[in-house]
Amino acid sequence: MLVSARSFAEYRAMFALTDRDLGRRILDCPGGAASFVAEAGQRGVDAVAVDREYAVHREELGLLVERESSFKRELLAEQTAGFNRSWYSDADDQIRQWTANSRLFRADIAARPERYVAGALPELPFSDRSFDLVLSSHLVFSYGNRLGEEFQQAALLELARVARREVRLFPVTVYDTGERHPGLERLREELAGAGIDSRLERVRYEFQPGADEMLVLGCTGYRPPARTAPGAGRPGAMPVDPVRWRHRERSD
Ligand SMILES: C[S@@+](CC[C@H](N)C(=O)[O-])C[C@H]1O[C@@H](n2cnc3c(N)ncnc32)[C@H](O)[C@@H]1O
Repeated sequence: MLVSARSFAEYRAMFALTDRDLGRRILDCPGGAASFVAEAGQRGVDAVAVDREYAVHREELGLLVERESSFKRELLAEQTAGFNRSWYSDADDQIRQWTANSRLFRADIAARPERYVAGALPELPFSDRSFDLVLSSHLVFSYGNRLGEEFQQAALLELARVARREVRLFPVTVYDTGERHPGLERLREELAGAGIDSRLERVRYEFQPGADEMLVLGCTGYRPPARTAPGAGRPGAMPVDPVRWRHRERSD
């Protein structure tokens, strides 16, 4: 998994965000090195990002995007051959845009550190219904084949717990296969059983072919069960990539 750095414009398109949505308190989970919160802040939007990497790498995460993407350029070009070119003209343009976005992220995390909270699904450091709208891009389904359904189920419930109105997730396809996540309907049924309605909505964003749908969870009627001791019985997330920082030995 690359740490990515998508822009405010991409978030607007991926999550079909209206001006009304942007008037609400928003959580970006996982924020990675995206510039959504930084650019949202410039527009007066009340947004917060959470990511497990913020516990260790903060401003440095922005540098990682730049260096890691250049380090993995060939792989990126190979993996995205045949992708829709309306957002990035090629791999070099993607690296250029992510670098620019990650610089906005770096400046903002330094200037407004309280907007970037360290935390990991499936247990977030926020009380119930802390945000009106929770956005989650390129994690739960994109890497669902590696994360496993037990983790996904717990993560979806956790995102719903901290949302007052809605959770929006994009995309619902698996990055490695380009297919819709095979457990999607099962997970939706489990959510329905917990009192969370969901719907799929086509959006005006497509990079990986076929990845143009978001899943919307309606959380207004959801009453999460009382929490047990932190971490108790929670499935673990993916292990941290042990070679992630290897490229720094070359580029520093
Ligand atoms: C592909 S990036 C997406 C970042 C951003 N949403 C975007 O679209 O540019 C995935 C991010 O998920 C974070 N991550 C992975 N597992 C996580 C977990 N269990 N809880 C929170 N963040 C996690 C990684 O640190 C990484 O920054």
